[in-house]
Amino acid sequence: MKKKILITRKLLRENEEKASKLWDVKLNLNDEVYSQKKLIELSKGFDGILSSLTDKIDEKVINSLPSSIKIISNFAVGFGNIDHEAAKKKNIAVTNTPDVLTDATAEIAMLLILGACRRANEGINHVKKENWKWSADFLIGKQLTGSRLGILGMGRIGRALAKLAKSFGMEIHYRNRSRLSPELEMGAKYHESIKSLFSISDVLSICCPSTKETKDIINKETLEYFPSGAIITNVARGDMIDDEAMIQALVNRKIYAIGLDVYKGEPKIHQGYLNQPTAFILPHLGSATKKTRMAMANLAIDNIDVFFSTGKCKNRIN
Ligand code: DGY
Repeated sequence: MKKKILITRKLLRENEEKASKLWDVKLNLNDEVYSQKKLIELSKGFDGILSSLTDKIDEKVINSLPSSIKIISNFAVGFGNIDHEAAKKKNIAVTNTPDVLTDATAEIAMLLILGACRRANEGINHVKKENWKWSADFLIGKQLTGSRLGILGMGRIGRALAKLAKSFGMEIHYRNRSRLSPELEMGAKYHESIKSLFSISDVLSICCPSTKETKDIINKETLEYFPSGAIITNVARGDMIDDEAMIQALVNRKIYAIGLDVYKGEPKIHQGYLNQPTAFILPHLGSATKKTRMAMANLAIDNIDVFFSTGKCKNRIN
């Protein structure tokens, strides 16, 4: 008998067709974001869930899922939306989609750096209002060439960003749980502490996973470590920035500009950012290319397929 899989958000057509051939699926044709209550209700009678980053699958949800659920395959590399430890206790495998979105996300990380350093938001606003006049000092930004890029989290995305940023003439520094081998480091300078990394970061890119340890890692105290006029960008997850402290640092110009693809409480954003002309903000576009979204969904589907057909688990994170 075919396995029953609940797919919580709409996927690209080709991916939904593939899943429908493999299993008895429940698709979400209206692409509604399910409440936790609805997710629990819908999962009754199902064997697995193909979830998305908008599903908040916390301990309470995990403990309310029917015992028939054996796997949650998250359609994302990040898995901060799932309490994977609670899932493990219940013997539910949790998987993610690494590798396939590395390049697309590194491109957006680079776009955030460029947009924030070169005042893209202000430029776009001037063009829309037709109120600009070229002059030698109009919207002077910060040039990337020769500036120091700190990368927090030198996993696949951090390393792909390092390559791109190097081609813009940036000097690469990083902090990671452990130091990389020289082949992976490719000349980037390792820092033993975030204080050491932040204090030389003319520009910071946050590329690390969201964990209990990284929550609010950018806060009132750590913002003080940065050189005055630094730029902070985040392509990972919103919960790593204490918004109040960050906005205050933008107001008092300690931080020159910010580039965000992710923020706390998405799709809502702290109004304070919207009042800041130097904030360059995107709506979580990291993996948003057709090639990447197709590959992510294929991998999320494969993770379930391998699990049920071989008993092994690919890309398991718990
Ligand atoms: C991920 O996979 O974690 C991305 O943020 C999705 O775009």
